[in-house]
Amino acid sequence: MKILGIETSCDETAAAVVEDGARILSNQIASQVEIHARYGGIVPEVASRQHLLSIIPILKQAMAEAETTWSDLSAIAVTTGPGLAGSLLVGVNAAKAIALARGLPLTGVNHLEGHIYANWLGDSSRGASPTFPLLCLIVSGGHSDLLLMKGHGDYVLLGRTRDDAAGEAFDKAARILGLGYPGGPAIEQAARKGNAASIQLPRAWLRGISDFSFSGVQTALLRMVEKGLVSTKPDGAASFQEAVVDVLVTKTVAVAKELRVKQVLLVGGVAANKLLRQQLIQNSPIPVLVPEPVLCTDNAAMIAACGYYRFKAGKIDGLDLDVIPSLKLG
Ligand code: KG4
Ligand code: ZN
Repeated sequence: MKILGIETSCDETAAAVVEDGARILSNQIASQVEIHARYGGIVPEVASRQHLLSIIPILKQAMAEAETTWSDLSAIAVTTGPGLAGSLLVGVNAAKAIALARGLPLTGVNHLEGHIYANWLGDSSRGASPTFPLLCLIVSGGHSDLLLMKGHGDYVLLGRTRDDAAGEAFDKAARILGLGYPGGPAIEQAARKGNAASIQLPRAWLRGISDFSFSGVQTALLRMVEKGLVSTKPDGAASFQEAVVDVLVTKTVAVAKELRVKQVLLVGGVAANKLLRQQLIQNSPIPVLVPEPVLCTDNAAMIAACGYYRFKAGKIDGLDLDVIPSLKLG
């Protein structure tokens, strides 16, 4: 079953063809990073206009790379939310147009669920495949969620951020340190030359609950920079990265042990961070699965993989499918 996945929830226009929810035949991504970098963040109106320019070329490239014709496709999966309304609309309308023109079934995918399904991509040579029940840590630009996944499409939300998401915190810390945009990769790169023990940043443990909070650590960093206590940008970056990773890893491992899940899935853009990957794998007695970095950040292969399991469960949407910018999971 070949599924065309389409993802336009934020600032990446992406299309991919995935076979049987696992084998990636193509994975095309047009990033808008350079366009938004000069503003230091995503400008929603600019993002939707850029999606309009990129969507048809990206769809054509994805079909060409997969050496697939429209009649080879079995179905279409598209992100309906959460995300920017104007951006989501471009993908959803492209998907509906193809579904109507080719008579193909359509399914709307939750972007966060898509991130989780990045773990089903790839062949069996990758090692273990996901086994339920799973604990999912979703860390992206808009979310820091801990979810129990009992089966396909079956989620219980255990914890979330009380304020900023982990990725948002990385982006803001990079701005404080003058490291540019997007902040996550900039902090990670700068941190390689820094000393994480150079300054002590606070950790919000929020004991007894599985929620996160990342606004305090940002304010602490800002105050230290203002007082001239951060000697170099790399030192600030390394200390900040360690503080965020410490909280994410410690809380996730504690919940995984308590719930006795079979595996832990680390997903979302921040899961591309090497220190987070290493620390979670090292500190968790329960096996950790994490997609390769290119499948952690936004892509359409993960949407096609999730779409496959939705189709198998009979979750088909009509042409009245609409965007849901504040869509939740669990
Ligand atoms: O999942 P994603 O690509 O888009 C959303 O759904 O939000 O996540 C984007 C977030 C951004 O905040 C970005 O700074 C962060 O992921 N990110 C990273 C790294 N790569 C991307 N954060 C830390 N380290 C990285 N290497
Ligand atoms: Zn994402």
